[in-house]
Amino acid sequence: MATSKPAPVQLNFPPSSSMEVLFSKEEIAGRVKALGKQISEDYAGQSIVLIGVLKGAAIFLSDLARAISVDNTFDFVAVSSYGRARVSSGAVKLIKDIDNPIEGKHVIIVEDILDTGLTLSYLRGLMLQHMPASLKIATCLDKPERRLVPIEADYIAFQIPNQFVIGYGMDYAEKYRNVEDIRLFPEEAVGH
Ligand code: IMP
Ligand code: MG
Repeated sequence: MATSKPAPVQLNFPPSSSMEVLFSKEEIAGRVKALGKQISEDYAGQSIVLIGVLKGAAIFLSDLARAISVDNTFDFVAVSSYGRARVSSGAVKLIKDIDNPIEGKHVIIVEDILDTGLTLSYLRGLMLQHMPASLKIATCLDKPERRLVPIEADYIAFQIPNQFVIGYGMDYAEKYRNVEDIRLFPEEAVGH
């Protein structure tokens, strides 16, 4: 007897130009510059290791690293994907670990969005096992309303309400990461 397969999820990719701009590239550049200045003051005379969470944080990290005037190096981790829909399974899995030891180093985890907090609380726990001298979190966006576990970032470019966004590294089903502004992804286009 033939088993019927579930219908494939139909994904909608509206053009980014049709989406409302939440933060323009100029506004983003201004906030990243300010964060870089603040971090440079907080870590004056020290060196920092920036650990970016792939892939969403890659663009934010590359701008932030250049806005920080104190000595910094970077590394990357990758965790299991959030999936296409805006739901979190709650399970986070490490796909790629750091390349270089961070013991005794000043570390800042760099993330695109702090949403439920599951990813960053998992990563924070993992990085603390490496015994860094200090550990902080920088995030481009913070959605405090969505938090499922208590965790806060030390450096935040923008706080936003519970809305799905794309651009500046952030994706919908891997698309739109290269969009320069941060834009609102239309609710009705989200495939479930
Ligand atoms: P959480 O804090 O563990 O729920 O997961 C945060 C991750 O979910 C982020 O790193 C993003 O990859 C993804 N995410 C959450 N909200 C959005 C969004 O609005 N647009 C794109 N990705 C998002
Ligand atoms: Mg991410």
